[in-house]
Amino acid sequence: MTIDQITTLLEPIVDPDLGKPLSELGAIHRVEVDGTAVRVYLELVQPIHWIAKRLEHACTSTITANFPTAEVEIMVRETGLPTSQRSRGIAGVKNLIAIASGKGGVGKSTMAANIAAALAQQGASVGLLDADVYGPSQPTMYGLAGQQMRAERGEDGKIIGHPNESHGVKVASIGFVMERDQAAILRGPMLAGYFSTLVDQIVWGDLDFLLFDLPPGTGDIQLTMTQRIPLTGAVIITTPQEIAVADVRRSIQMFRKVNVDVLGIVENMSYFVPPDAPEKRYHIFGEGGGRSISNEYQVPFLGEVPIEMRIRAGGDSGTPFVLDPESGSQGEAIRQIAASIVAEVRKANERVSDTTVRIEL
Ligand SMILES: Nc1ncnc2c1ncn2[C@@H]1O[C@H](COP(=O)(O)OP(=O)(O)OP(=O)(O)O)[C@@H](O)[C@H]1O
Ligand SMILES: [Mg+2]
Repeated sequence: MTIDQITTLLEPIVDPDLGKPLSELGAIHRVEVDGTAVRVYLELVQPIHWIAKRLEHACTSTITANFPTAEVEIMVRETGLPTSQRSRGIAGVKNLIAIASGKGGVGKSTMAANIAAALAQQGASVGLLDADVYGPSQPTMYGLAGQQMRAERGEDGKIIGHPNESHGVKVASIGFVMERDQAAILRGPMLAGYFSTLVDQIVWGDLDFLLFDLPPGTGDIQLTMTQRIPLTGAVIITTPQEIAVADVRRSIQMFRKVNVDVLGIVENMSYFVPPDAPEKRYHIFGEGGGRSISNEYQVPFLGEVPIEMRIRAGGDSGTPFVLDPESGSQGEAIRQIAASIVAEVRKANERVSDTTVRIEL
């Protein structure tokens, strides 16, 4: 067993998110062979939750298929510039993802809450910023309603806000700093001001993901918010019907105008399976809208989530549905969407590291 033999075996293994072999990605950092002991150091584009275990397994089984006596150890390290280091960002935050929709009430907050919980379940450190000035819902969805954000004055006199934590997710809401009915009487620029203040004051610590639950629509507030922070990308939530899809077009155009990648479309409330007739599927809000818009704009379709009473109930009771051990195939659909988002984030991060190299040359 030599270093070259092991390297040759590993080079063609494909990173399933990026669709490229490890050799092309420069992912095989170092290989050590000492008798029967093999140690491989991989460097994978961040975030590696969801993918590290699969690639570790693929590498180990490839090596042992050829050298059955080998004792293999795979060490994985993350590479890729965190968003926050690319431009003025939020300290410690690697990936900033907006959860947006054109139309209101399509389940943006519900999906943001569940995707955040699914990411945390995989071991990622996750924050959730509820930026919906008109109807902040994350405090309720995470069982934090009525709580204040802990704040203190730093040495330089600046206010430091600490997010509240629930179910392993750090949650901060504009609802923690302003009264619910206040938004209705404030004008756009002032609302955007509140948002900026909130973003400046919160200290998140190290986060793999920070999800933004944006207010519905494509107006000035949404535009200001998306420009205020360097987003890794945006996930757009829609329902299947034509009238919601029309609003998605506007949303995609808004993000393109400010040069934010649309990571993909999630279709929520896609169908309903009656618990007492599981063989039936009712397309209550129509069919196929999410897929057709993703084709039209050439953006990934990230998956569909059915209408499910327990999803609504989870939001109302303060425990995201996906955390329910009995969440079954509906929970799996949401976990799969979270995995697809991670894959798209990794593609975006790989593109950025490509550009960085090109600029240096
Ligand atoms: N897949 C689902 N199954 C059942 N109920 C759902 C589902 N998704 C969302 N809901 C329910 O629909 C309602 C609206 O959802 P939510 O508040 O998440 O939408 P939103 O897009 O954030 O709304 P807004 O535009 O007001 O911010 C909530 O009562 C929520 O519990
Ligand atoms: Mg909402």
